Amino acid sequence: MKKIALVTGGSRGLGKDMAQAIAAKGLDVVVTWQSGEQAAGEVVSKLEQAGTVAAAIQLDLLKFDSLDDFAPRLQRLLDDKFGGRKLDFLVNNAGMGATIPMAQATAAQFDDFMNVHFKGVYFLTQKLLPLMNDGGGIVNISTGTTRFCLPGYSIYASMKGAIEVLTRYIAKEFGRRGIRANVVAPGPIETDFNGAAIRSNPQLKERLSGMTSLGRVGQADDIGSVVAFLCSDESKWVNGQRIEVSGGINI
Ligand SMILES: NC(=O)c1ccc[n+]([C@@H]2O[C@H](COP(=O)([O-])OP(=O)(O)OC[C@H]3O[C@@H](n4cnc5c(N)ncnc54)[C@H](OP(=O)(O)O)[C@@H]3O)[C@@H](O)[C@H]2O)c1
Repeated sequence: MKKIALVTGGSRGLGKDMAQAIAAKGLDVVVTWQSGEQAAGEVVSKLEQAGTVAAAIQLDLLKFDSLDDFAPRLQRLLDDKFGGRKLDFLVNNAGMGATIPMAQATAAQFDDFMNVHFKGVYFLTQKLLPLMNDGGGIVNISTGTTRFCLPGYSIYASMKGAIEVLTRYIAKEFGRRGIRANVVAPGPIETDFNGAAIRSNPQLKERLSGMTSLGRVGQADDIGSVVAFLCSDESKWVNGQRIEVSGGINI
């Protein structure tokens, strides 16, 4: 039976590429969107044209209370469109960025980043684990900035650091179900992330390229194939690991 992966934030950017790469490995795919329903629909149509069973569902991690409703809505979607099959892989990718110097950070900004990048990931994963088959996996998307520091990323990177610890706990607590948990930590990638900061700022792009051993910033398709690998049996003995995918930034 074909396996199913759920990619949060699969409507664009890295998540869209992950969904495509996972589908290319022969899995069926559910993507989530926050505001981009049309973009998510286009991702689904493209996957369906290639023979994947695919669907999109809304998820807003800023609204923590809405998570209670998400698992039952997903269950209905799995019943209606996927013949009642369970999930095999969960890719916690959705997220936003902002450059916030610590001296100016507010408690409201801290709470938003905590909800989207840590508390939301923690409880979404908790609520979806009962909808998952044994033998699958969780992939949490972190960032290179948990290893090296960029000014303005103190809140964001701290939350991502928390999911790196969480990932090892998931690997420990759910290993007996054959569920693996790993982190993929991208370096700077030219997406809409953080107000399309890299795409819209040539000086920043040049600076980040210069910090990277391979001499450029990343593109979305540098990441999806690594996530797809972690959603396959090719990585069946990889568990509790952080894999940085950054072209060798700050090494
Ligand atoms: N790009 C980078 O340089 C970079 C580097 C390291 C790590 N990352 C991480 O990679 C992940 C994806 O980033 P990206 O570059 O693909 O960003 P992106 O192009 O801005 O896409 C963000 C995705 O997350 C969804 N999303 C945003 N806020 C959400 C919320 N509150 N609740 C649920 N979904 C939400 C968006 O949905 P809509 O389309 O509906 O708005 C979209 O699908 C993030 O976790 C980010 O921290 C990115």
